[in-house]
Amino acid sequence: MENQATYNYKVVRQFAIMTVVWGIVGMLVGVVIAAQMVWPELNVGPWFHFGRLRPLHTNAVIFAFGGCGLMATSLYVVQRTCNVRLISDGLASFVFWGWQAVIVLAAVTLPLGYTSGKEYAELEWPIDILITLVWVAYAVVFFGTIAKRRVKHIYVANWFYGGFILAVALLHIVNSMAMPAGALKSYSAYAGTVDAMVQWWYGHNAVGFFLTAGFLGMMYYFVPKQAGRPVYSYRLSVVHFWALIFTYMWAGPHHLHYTALPDWTQSLGMVFSLVLLAPSWGGMINGIMTLSGAWHKLRTDPILKFLVTALSFYGMSTFEGPMMAIKTVNALSHYTDWTIGHVHSGALGWVAMITIGSIYYLVPRLFGREQMYSVKLIETHFWVATIGTVLYIASMWIAGVTQGLMWRAVNPDGTLTYAFIDAVKATHPYYFVRFLGGAMFLAGMVMMLYNVLRTATVGRPVDAQIPVVHAHA
Ligand code: HEM
Ligand code: HEM
Repeated sequence: MENQATYNYKVVRQFAIMTVVWGIVGMLVGVVIAAQMVWPELNVGPWFHFGRLRPLHTNAVIFAFGGCGLMATSLYVVQRTCNVRLISDGLASFVFWGWQAVIVLAAVTLPLGYTSGKEYAELEWPIDILITLVWVAYAVVFFGTIAKRRVKHIYVANWFYGGFILAVALLHIVNSMAMPAGALKSYSAYAGTVDAMVQWWYGHNAVGFFLTAGFLGMMYYFVPKQAGRPVYSYRLSVVHFWALIFTYMWAGPHHLHYTALPDWTQSLGMVFSLVLLAPSWGGMINGIMTLSGAWHKLRTDPILKFLVTALSFYGMSTFEGPMMAIKTVNALSHYTDWTIGHVHSGALGWVAMITIGSIYYLVPRLFGREQMYSVKLIETHFWVATIGTVLYIASMWIAGVTQGLMWRAVNPDGTLTYAFIDAVKATHPYYFVRFLGGAMFLAGMVMMLYNVLRTATVGRPVDAQIPVVHAHA
């Protein structure tokens, strides 16, 4: 029975299960488009063509898988750290069903070819309005719960989740401004270079706030919990929070190097990207150092392995990103698969792994069990996911640098050394390796679904009692 003396775990359970389900769907589409790059004949009809499935993949993994993971964990963490039930069960339920509706609408409209053409903001205007409504409800539930907290202090994880919620609202509204020209057709409110600049201000901050700040919120709750240690430096967490959110906002132009964007803007984006290394590593170091005195747990605890490996990939991708933002490096990397490698070292290594670790922490608690149905299967999942990620990103690095070097190679007489098709042929074997890596990562997710469903069925849904003590839970 739900009552005021318990936490609302129902919405957390719903989002947690859907995180795994959408993870499988989104990654399955990823594996399909990876296969289409190896075997072009798999591009069938307009609906299942690479060009239509690619945005379906990105939307499904970022907003369905990542989004459900962020909502599951944030709605759990805000209750546990504020010692209070969510401000409204009805609104929380609206957030869940509204978000699922957005996902289903995306899954239908994208393959049909309805798109605004803006990367990571492809959905057409009626869906954009629904997103806004759901997001405002989410913000009300989250901040409303913080407002009625029974603990004076606002734990740092909530700062990161809060920053993510506010920034995404701002990004979504500004970038989606458009003039409707039919039920599923619109024109951007911005034109030309300004449109590009707004789009990549949005795009980069989607990385910074959707794919980073929210997941740092996850890190700040689940890493200390699973390690059984307090956060290494609370002061560092506050300093890197403000530095991170301030710096991210300026780095967008690194997506538009050597374009019509004014040159000084590109240089500004490059400099802010280099500065971004510091707050990013501040977070990574704070997470990893939280394990001081608990390193031995890594030998036996696969959930901790997921969380710590995620932090290592976070560190790697936030070192790589600033390097790629240097204009001369970007001249090589841009348009190549190096970018795709970078994306997935962040997406698989960081975003997916921290989510997987956090969901494994949550599920037994949501279903009244001591631990997951099979800890051994988590261990297998960990290795399959790690090897899959390494295969994916290493193959894309090699493919990307090869492409970049082949495209720019010139003969002494000034003609190009290679035709474009030569670079395609050189890349082909690496596409197969990427497909294998992706298939392994997906196989791990299927193991996870089995493990989660078994845990849910041997256990039963429970809503923990809110303790009377006024301390962090
Ligand atoms: C300090 C942090 C980071 C910096 C400075 C950075 C920088 C960059 C640069 C320079 C590019 C290539 C742009 C181009 O040539 O088109 C890029 C692409 C990208 N990065 Fe990062 N990156 C960082 C961290 C991350 C993380 C942690 C993730 C994921 C979780 C990520 C996701 C992406 C995505 C999705 C793209 C591709 C965008 C597109 O063209 O569609 N980045 N990043
Ligand atoms: C089984 C796992 C996955 C596979 C096989 C996979 C495969 C792919 C493929 C083939 C592409 C298109 C690359 C191209 O256009 O050349 C792609 C793009 C992308 N994927 Fe994945 N992916 C996987 C998981 C993920 C996850 C978990 C995320 C995010 C959390 C993600 C985010 C993205 C993004 C943002 C892009 C666009 C990159 C860009 O425009 O630069 N992927 N993926």
